[in-house]
Amino acid sequence: MRLTDCHNVEDFRRLAKARLPSPIFNYIDGAADDERTKDRNTSSFDDCYLVPNVLAGVSEIDMSATVMGKRIAMPLLLSPTALQRLFHWQGERAVGATAQTFDTWFGISSLATVSIEEVGETIKSPKLFQLYIHKDKGLNASMIERCKAAKFDAIALTVDTIVSGNRERCLRSGFTSPPRFTPASVLSYATHPGWVANYLLREKFALPNLQTHVDAGTNVAVSVAEYFNTMLDTSMDWKMAEKVRADWGGHFCLKGIMSVEDAKRAVDIGATAIMVSNHGGRQLDGSRSPFDQIAEIADAVGGKIDIICDGGVRRGSHVLKAIAAGATACSGGRLYLYALAAAGEPGVRRIVGKLRDEIERDMKLMGVRSVSELNSSLLRWRSVGL
Ligand code: FNR
Ligand code: LAC
Repeated sequence: MRLTDCHNVEDFRRLAKARLPSPIFNYIDGAADDERTKDRNTSSFDDCYLVPNVLAGVSEIDMSATVMGKRIAMPLLLSPTALQRLFHWQGERAVGATAQTFDTWFGISSLATVSIEEVGETIKSPKLFQLYIHKDKGLNASMIERCKAAKFDAIALTVDTIVSGNRERCLRSGFTSPPRFTPASVLSYATHPGWVANYLLREKFALPNLQTHVDAGTNVAVSVAEYFNTMLDTSMDWKMAEKVRADWGGHFCLKGIMSVEDAKRAVDIGATAIMVSNHGGRQLDGSRSPFDQIAEIADAVGGKIDIICDGGVRRGSHVLKAIAAGATACSGGRLYLYALAAAGEPGVRRIVGKLRDEIERDMKLMGVRSVSELNSSLLRWRSVGL
């Protein structure tokens, strides 16, 4: 299977599985407990059907959306994800360059493998920094200051990771950052010499936005669960979120809001956006899917805050459904991570291009000329009460 054989996210997932040592693939692909929420995040789109209106004159359509004050060329953002240079040596550089080409938001994680400063200098499309609140207050302040100096356009505070989810694939594989070659995993590394050569011979792995304050993750190998459970501040509350917003002073997003009540509080503390998200099912298994939750959140806070439907998106039609249900735009992680892992920058460009084309084609087939024409009259639901 080659790059040109990949026509959708699932094709890239298969190629990534073949090309990556299994602990790395399972870190990306895996989720919490029985992975029910991860599966539902995508299958929830199947319970909703689109009803097209034809003869709409769709020779010119406008796919742009405005999210956190920035007009983007398509209503799909690339969510912040950790450790990207472990997935492919081009890491965040490949993803950022692609976001720039397609003129959409790009996010880097607190656990990114390129620095805030480098992204600030190289990426001209809208940039978001995902903040994890650490116990080390100096580290939190340093990340916010660095984002200001690098002229980031938004900070997204992740609020669904107060402790780590139970990721059993990672428990079985012993996955750590940086990776450790354990007896259980050594065979999977030995059978992927291309990955190992890139890991050993290219730029040394590092977490440049954290390593000024912590060794864990860069110089000391830890599991992601151990990192979360020892480093992050479990006392984080609404007051702290409001203080982060005030210290930062720019566009502010809460990532991991699921309830209507919390969406209203996000408006109250002056957030400009929420990512309706369960972290791709990696945290609370059994959590409802973002798409299932969009309509009630939009009823409560639509128009007061941007609503980003994050997680489970694998097709352009999923984006249309979420927006018709009330989202401002969608975002996703694995949709580009499989492609990054499988084929680096050409892979990310190919899948984002495919998804962009799907959104465009599906808007035309729906008889919709601009994203603002998508509304709930175009949807029918297979089941209710989920
Ligand atoms: C993530 N996600 C994530 N979120 C976050 O706030 N900080 C992070 O560092 C990461 N890291 C991360 C790594 C990997 C490998 C994955 C798959 C996900 C969650 C991410 O931003 C997003 O919420 C989910 O990926 C959405 O679900 P889908 O699109 O992967 O189904
Ligand atoms: C994850 C992180 C790092 O989901 O947020 O693995």
